[in-house]
Amino acid sequence: MRSLPIGRRVVVSELGETPEDGIEHHTALEDQPPPDPATLSPRDVLVVIKSASVGWVDLLMTSGQYQHVPEPPYTPGLEYAGVVAWAGAEVTGLAVDQPVLVDGFRAGPRSLGAYQKQGGFASFAVVPAEAVLPIPGALTFDQACNLLGNYETAYHALVTRGRLREGETVLIHGASGSTGLAAVHLAKLLGAKVIATGRSAAKLAVVKEQGADHVVSCKGEGEAVRPFREEVKALTGGAGVDVVYDGVGGDVSLESLRCVKFGARFLIVGWASTPYVARGKGQRGAPNANVLPTNLIMMKGLDVLGCPAVISTVHDPSLRPPRLRQILQWASEGKVSPHVSHVFPLERFREAMLAKWRGEVIGGCVLHP
Ligand SMILES: NC(=O)c1ccc[n+]([C@@H]2O[C@H](COP(=O)([O-])OP(=O)(O)OC[C@H]3O[C@@H](n4cnc5c(N)ncnc54)[C@H](OP(=O)(O)O)[C@@H]3O)[C@@H](O)[C@H]2O)c1
Repeated sequence: MRSLPIGRRVVVSELGETPEDGIEHHTALEDQPPPDPATLSPRDVLVVIKSASVGWVDLLMTSGQYQHVPEPPYTPGLEYAGVVAWAGAEVTGLAVDQPVLVDGFRAGPRSLGAYQKQGGFASFAVVPAEAVLPIPGALTFDQACNLLGNYETAYHALVTRGRLREGETVLIHGASGSTGLAAVHLAKLLGAKVIATGRSAAKLAVVKEQGADHVVSCKGEGEAVRPFREEVKALTGGAGVDVVYDGVGGDVSLESLRCVKFGARFLIVGWASTPYVARGKGQRGAPNANVLPTNLIMMKGLDVLGCPAVISTVHDPSLRPPRLRQILQWASEGKVSPHVSHVFPLERFREAMLAKWRGEVIGGCVLHP
């Protein structure tokens, strides 16, 4: 192994009461000594990290308010991309200096095995060979670390669960977000009409540039949700939408129930507007969980579908290979191209995480170690 200088990594030393508490008080930068090759397995790969995505889940994890709780101390960064610096004797098909992305299902804080501490907010990471994929097509490192989690979530929701078809109309909430913008891209690829909602005119203008057919503001007074049912109904000739992709939750979900067709599919993807469904410091329970009215679900004949991309795959591993193949193929053909609005050097990780938390980002937010 060529010698590497001492690096740096971000470490969450204990879980916060909230993500802001976790980010501001329990997360710090420390030195990262390069690993000793004698301690690595012949199936390991050492990746020098160029770009790490700052995801919503990275924020929630700092307070243990995400369903999967890595034990501190750990390094955040579910998804990252970089170059191979060293590969063990049993690793085939990877060359030193090759640009790669790391699969967050198999290494890093969202993975289940022995490589959970190998997060991407760091100079390097040791990951198993099966977690390493060549970067497809012309994607940059910044785009590559925003590919799998976002597009797999969108694919799982729209294709596997939502059965979205060409010519249908989908209402996408949180469309300026990482998974929401991926959903806009995929829905357009599938030939659907996209109505995208959001709270900021400036961000919605970018969402429209990125392919949404129509954008609708859901920003009311203060934190209130602006009623959008009439606007959505008008855009669908009075019929309502076939599918709702809901990554926002709260009053946005409730308003959506008033502008769906009979028999629509309602995809529950997340709840960015109501993130505290578990208590801080990793305590369980769901004191503020979202609630949907059963009368409207029944009268409108809705299919309400939970869409957890990772958990579904744990229950049914056969879901993932075709999804992964399709996304990598689309990326290699240039048909999906993640949008990244914010890039920060690693030492400004706190600013990056808080920018994401405050909803300032459009699509991806990236750290450069
Ligand atoms: N189902 C799955 O497998 C899966 C996978 C990944 C993430 N998720 C979940 O999906 C949701 C979205 O994730 P993401 O990665 O797309 O997040 P993100 O990049 O932060 O985007 C969330 C978007 O929601 C909108 N939003 C509306 N109200 C908000 C509020 N009060 N606070 C913050 N944002 C608000 C924002 O758009 P505007 O500012 O334009 O309104 C923001 O761009 C999260 O709940 C996440 O946990 C689910």
